[in-house]
Amino acid sequence: MADREPDRRGFLKLATCAVGGGVGLVVVAPVLKLLDDPSGKITVTTPTEPIDLGAIDRFQIGAEPTKVEVIAPLVKDAWTAARNVVLGGAWIRRTSPEKIEVFSAVCPHLGCGVGWEGKQFGCPCHNSKFAVNGDVVTGPSKRGLDALPVQIKDGRLRVVWVSYKLDTDAKVLG
Ligand code: FES
Repeated sequence: MADREPDRRGFLKLATCAVGGGVGLVVVAPVLKLLDDPSGKITVTTPTEPIDLGAIDRFQIGAEPTKVEVIAPLVKDAWTAARNVVLGGAWIRRTSPEKIEVFSAVCPHLGCGVGWEGKQFGCPCHNSKFAVNGDVVTGPSKRGLDALPVQIKDGRLRVVWVSYKLDTDAKVLG
């Protein structure tokens, strides 16, 4: 009987370690997961649905481009929600009753704000120029102004705000 004592002690030690380790894992694993959260997740969500820019009649056919702010009604991140967040500027050009072009005011070169200079768009940072239809005229920008997806519904103009990668030839989602 006495020579079996060390076996029993060894078994009890092992069992105690196993149970303790299991309990520790049960307690520690959720804490580690909580501390790691929200790494690797998309936490800020920019709305992907069209954003209302107002009545289409607000934009006159053939008039010079008009700049508007694109305001998201709601932007959420992992912890908060903010209302009426300005996502950026857009230039609106109405060429016919049903045709409206909307260009992001973000310069496709390196992201400065593009302005209207009377006959063409211009970027003050590195002097890129863009025709009224958004094409590059001159300067370092590798592509024309980024046209944003447009929807006309119930007499209202809606636009989807999209950020594209800067300084690329083609429009690539950013
Ligand atoms: S950021 Fe517009 S030309 Fe460089």
